[in-house]
Amino acid sequence: MNNQDLLKIAEEFGSPLYVYDAEKIISQYKRLTSAFNVKKLRIHYAVKALSNISILKLLNSLGCGLDTVSIQEVKLGIEAGVNPSNIIYTPNGVSLEEIEEVVLLGAQINIDNLSILEQFGTKHPGTPVCIRINPHVMAGGNSKISVGHIDSKFGISIHQMPHLLRIVKNTGMNINGIHMHTGSDILDIGVFLHASEILFDAAKNFKDLEFIDFGSGFKVPYKEDDIETDIEDLGKQLTGRFENFCKEYGRELTLAFEPGKYLVSEAGKFLAKVNVIKQTTSTVFAGIDTGFNHLIRPMFYGSHQEITNISNPGAKPRFYSVVGYICETDTFASNRRISEITEGDILAFSNAGAYCFSMASNFNSRYRPAEVLWYQGESHLIRKRETFEDLVKHQVPVDLHVESI
Ligand SMILES: Cc1ncc(COP(=O)(O)O)c(C=O)c1O
Repeated sequence: MNNQDLLKIAEEFGSPLYVYDAEKIISQYKRLTSAFNVKKLRIHYAVKALSNISILKLLNSLGCGLDTVSIQEVKLGIEAGVNPSNIIYTPNGVSLEEIEEVVLLGAQINIDNLSILEQFGTKHPGTPVCIRINPHVMAGGNSKISVGHIDSKFGISIHQMPHLLRIVKNTGMNINGIHMHTGSDILDIGVFLHASEILFDAAKNFKDLEFIDFGSGFKVPYKEDDIETDIEDLGKQLTGRFENFCKEYGRELTLAFEPGKYLVSEAGKFLAKVNVIKQTTSTVFAGIDTGFNHLIRPMFYGSHQEITNISNPGAKPRFYSVVGYICETDTFASNRRISEITEGDILAFSNAGAYCFSMASNFNSRYRPAEVLWYQGESHLIRKRETFEDLVKHQVPVDLHVESI
């Protein structure tokens, strides 16, 4: 997908627009599966990163399962043709009723707190359950995506193992998996391996395991020469340790992961048109036809998204602050060197596959963008741009006949 392809796509489908390169998703999946040379490997794609049904179908056709956090994500997966037995459901803070409904849909349950574990185990001792352990390891790119530390709301504390084992024994429930997810954008595989050792130790307490799920958090590059998780090195190191553990455990277990970003982040481009160039006394602003309603990561996480002026990539670079149209501070990039921008140019944001469209909203009553999937030189519209009808369709107008004052 080069700049000319992207310009053509923007011309055909308008802006702002999300475009995903199917081949990049496929190559990331292959790279990941090749890195872990174990007998039984399962990759569950974290649906929350990008939940378009066509993306789920693509991953399903590669043999990838799904990691879900809501019953709606489970239903989307089933709608996409994924066998529920290839779906793991890892919610946080949801009701027992929702978990029970997901069991009926056939997905693997992953429970992350003792209260629900006890209630679920008492009512459904025969249903296989995976347990999310919090290993208390500080990992992740920033505080919002570090979820395995001591103050985190996620998982059952490794220090609560005696209580956890009592619940399992008293209810007679069937624990078939053990899981952790310590955070996103993990820089150092040493931290990951350290957390894995804690998980292996915890796993020894359960006699009927079928899989160990190491979650995700693989870091992808956001700019040239950026750090990324050395997946091949992690593969080598974890494979050896996993095999040793299986020998010790006495059974061949499945090694599972649930990556979101790793599979789809780099595949995505977000295209926006420059509406206005505004030169102030201190700054040159490029105001674009979108805002944090469509791409919240820079404002929410302080994330870096590379921005290229694909209409004029060879022009002399100048410094711009790229801003959105939302009625609050809405900055995508400050003082960024970008090829000279003229009003009407199309800017392409990189790493727009994960946590971009899936976090988009209608703030300021704007329509959410369309999505296009690019495969073998052809573009496929996979979500239409919203319309005014979409904005009003669930509203129920009420006239209260209030007397005018
Ligand atoms: C339980 C769980 N698994 C997997 C993921 C995916 O993480 P990433 O997109 O960093 O691969 C997340 C992300 O929030 C998560 O909460």
